[in-house]
Amino acid sequence: VLLGAYSAMQKGIFVSCSAGNDGPFESSLSNEAPWVMTVGASTIDRNIRATAVLGNKQEFHGESLYQPKDFPPALHPLFYPAGMNQSDLDSRYCNAASLNKTEVEGKMVVCHVGGDLTGIEKGQNIKDLDGVGMILINPEEDGYTTFADAHVLPATLLSYADGLKVMAYINSTKSPVAAISFKGTVIGHNHAPMVASFSSRGPSRASPGILKPDIIGPGVNILAGWNESIENNTKSKLNFNVISGTSMSCPHLSGVAALLKSAHPKWSPAAIKSAIMTTADLVNLAKNPIEDERHLPASIFAVGSGHVNPSRANNPGLIYDIKPTDYVPYLCGLMNYTDKEVGLLTQSKVDCAKESSIPEAQLNYPSFSIIFGSPVQRYTRTVTNVGEAKSTYNVKVVAPKGVKVAVVPHTLNFSKVNQKLIYEVIFTRLEAAAEGIVSQGSLYWHSAKYSVRSPIIAIVNGN
Ligand SMILES: *[C@@H]1O[C@H](CO)[C@@H](O)[C@H](O)[C@H]1NC(C)=O
Ligand SMILES: *[C@@H]1O[C@H](CO)[C@@H](O)[C@H](O)[C@H]1NC(C)=O
Ligand SMILES: *[C@@H]1O[C@H](CO)[C@@H](O)[C@H](O)[C@H]1NC(C)=O
Ligand SMILES: *[C@@H]1O[C@H](CO)[C@@H](O)[C@H](O)[C@H]1NC(C)=O
Ligand SMILES: *[C@@H]1O[C@H](CO)[C@@H](O)[C@H](O)[C@H]1NC(C)=O
Ligand SMILES: *[C@@H]1O[C@H](CO)[C@@H](O)[C@H](O)[C@H]1NC(C)=O
Ligand SMILES: *[C@@H]1O[C@H](CO)[C@@H](O)[C@H](O)[C@H]1NC(C)=O
Repeated sequence: VLLGAYSAMQKGIFVSCSAGNDGPFESSLSNEAPWVMTVGASTIDRNIRATAVLGNKQEFHGESLYQPKDFPPALHPLFYPAGMNQSDLDSRYCNAASLNKTEVEGKMVVCHVGGDLTGIEKGQNIKDLDGVGMILINPEEDGYTTFADAHVLPATLLSYADGLKVMAYINSTKSPVAAISFKGTVIGHNHAPMVASFSSRGPSRASPGILKPDIIGPGVNILAGWNESIENNTKSKLNFNVISGTSMSCPHLSGVAALLKSAHPKWSPAAIKSAIMTTADLVNLAKNPIEDERHLPASIFAVGSGHVNPSRANNPGLIYDIKPTDYVPYLCGLMNYTDKEVGLLTQSKVDCAKESSIPEAQLNYPSFSIIFGSPVQRYTRTVTNVGEAKSTYNVKVVAPKGVKVAVVPHTLNFSKVNQKLIYEVIFTRLEAAAEGIVSQGSLYWHSAKYSVRSPIIAIVNGN
């Protein structure tokens, strides 16, 4: 993939790739090469709501794509197969073998997400035994990331936190009851955009000196065309489905890149990527810092530069451009790559001994990933003015904890469009910085009209 993407980049073709669906764990990224845009997944502000209502009047908003209009909001006995034996995984996950008709028939059944079954398959097991509905509970690692799936019976998927409250309710009474109330599409969820639990996280294992992922974009409960009807009805013409994954978020970024390319036909793939990254949003609809699946502020290793903002990306002020040949010294600088391996990528003969190889962090990337082996590190960046001809930019740094950041010069005065200016950043590890810490910050270039941001991650003696 990355070989093909390299050739595409050489021909001026922008490539966006899925960051992977192996989150929320660290170093779970795929497709990390610096010549592609690595895209994580975030929620959108639309929920397809199905609300669980308990006998104690508590209500929890979950999601389901299947929204039966005729399902009565009446309370039904609530059956929790795992309640019998918490360590029996079969009953926890509502495997067919663990369910019995006497217990399930006419009941609302509580199942945990996980095991070898999808949520839809768990629902089918319950439906087969004439259960009336299903309340699905997220595992802790999925937190508040819920999916609107095309269930085969009335169902809702609840967050981990709400699931704990359902279990506490079940524990609190001899005859628990519950209903599901279908609310349809609800817009304006103000925790959005939130990083999805499954969205793969940095740091990059292949090239830790390049900060990845680059960006997040819409990738949870995305509505799109589907190759067959998801309704159990051969006459149905409803060829749509809702799907989640970084495979849903990366096409959003391809679309944004196509818009930018048509507005700026001369921009290279790296210029388009820079425009998207330096203008990304850092806050959610509630104006709080973008959160992860736990509703905690998301790390740079989850969001990269932030959430794509297409209209700001169209007018970024400055760009960090990279020519195809600039990747050769970068590749030569990577440990353990032979001339032959570098040549395979570039499809040309490469003699790394003759190239002036560079450390990863010296590539003209719109973000910084600084790994402190040596305590003082200097890198240069070249910015190209794509805003107003006469413009003055002043630097502002929010230094990562334990690190001093100096920028020379402090001011960049441009007099024409497409003019390039160089600045240097000196990162110094402070004495007090503890071993193993990872801290984050930002470097901004501000003009009267623009704010051009690069995220910084600093890893002290990391590996
Ligand atoms: C609970 O389930 C586990 C795993 O299936 C089993 O080993 C154990 O014997 C069960 N305990 C009881 C009390 O049934
Ligand atoms: C089904 O569950 C009922 C009630 O717990 C129990 O009496 C019965 O033995 C179970 N049947 C099977 C086949 O496990
Ligand atoms: C419910 O009770 C079971 C068994 O006593 C216990 O293992 C579990 O932690 C309880 N759950 C909650 C949410 O209180
Ligand atoms: C739709 O795609 C799936 C997965 O590739 C395939 O199994 C299925 O047969 C397709 N359905 C139709 C109607 O082509
Ligand atoms: C699909 O429809 C058939 C025939 O109406 C029915 O027997 C089957 O149970 C349905 N399956 C689902 C998943 O609803
Ligand atoms: C480079 O190769 C050596 C020896 O095979 C290995 O120990 C080291 O982990 C490799 N480094 C990287 C960055 O892959
Ligand atoms: C940039 O221009 C300002 C006035 O517009 C001037 O004060 C400053 O010295 C200039 N800086 C550089 C680095 O040329």
